[in-house]
Amino acid sequence: MDKLNNKAIGVFDSGYGGLSVLKEIIKLMPDYDFNYLGDNARTPYGNRSFEAVYTYTLQSVKKLFELGSELVILACNTASAKALRTIQQEYLPTLNQPWKRVLGVIRPSVEIIGKYTNSSHVGVLGTRGTVASNSYPLEIHKIYPEITVQQEACPMWVALVENNEFNNDGADYFIENNIINILSLDNQIDTLILGCTHYPLLIEKIKKYTPKHISILSQGEIVANSLKDYLNRHPEMDAMCSKNSIHKFYTTDSPKLFKEFGSIFCDKINNVKQIEL
Ligand code: DGL
Repeated sequence: MDKLNNKAIGVFDSGYGGLSVLKEIIKLMPDYDFNYLGDNARTPYGNRSFEAVYTYTLQSVKKLFELGSELVILACNTASAKALRTIQQEYLPTLNQPWKRVLGVIRPSVEIIGKYTNSSHVGVLGTRGTVASNSYPLEIHKIYPEITVQQEACPMWVALVENNEFNNDGADYFIENNIINILSLDNQIDTLILGCTHYPLLIEKIKKYTPKHISILSQGEIVANSLKDYLNRHPEMDAMCSKNSIHKFYTTDSPKLFKEFGSIFCDKINNVKQIEL
């Protein structure tokens, strides 16, 4: 194990999407070390069963722990929706290291929603898995019972991003359709949550089809602020995170592809290794 990077914060996604979160975290916390793991060989997770997403996510968390992380961020809504709670409640207690933590991206995105909506009507765009889990409405209603939540699954959007088609005209068809669908469910929606870490790459086209008065929330900055706040509130965890500004990237698929394509999401990618889960 690399001595300098053995206490890096682990960041996980099914593929490239989590890089949109990591990029913002690095901006806010440039001193910290990060190990990013993309399960590119098995992406996308969005249409997979609960069991498959749980198994894959758990394997990835174990790998990041093995690489030395004490803290892992699931920078993936699908994994946060389908696997996080079981990992926290059933897997972590079996370890003899009670300080280890796994955090997700849904809770921080939900906490700040009250600051954005005036109408108390919000829409969530996500993968089929995230929408089917109902995690967003459940979490939003715990904090804001008065907010009405509509959801729309956008099963093509991750594929557009993963296949580098997100700037092409074909993408407009799917994006326009999904936006029309969600807004037709409730004409009072004034806030749309991009509940998938791949979607920030589609932001220009999403804006094109969304009326100007509607706020569009991307998760990168929200999750970065929430992580910084978490480490401020947990100095014992902060002390365990190494700070040498080292960023390492692991993929279950081709490192060459990861570097080439991942650079569209985040310009810090140079050190990529293939890894087996
Ligand atoms: N980036 C992931 C998310 O935030 C999911 C993409 C997928 O694997 O379907 O949900």
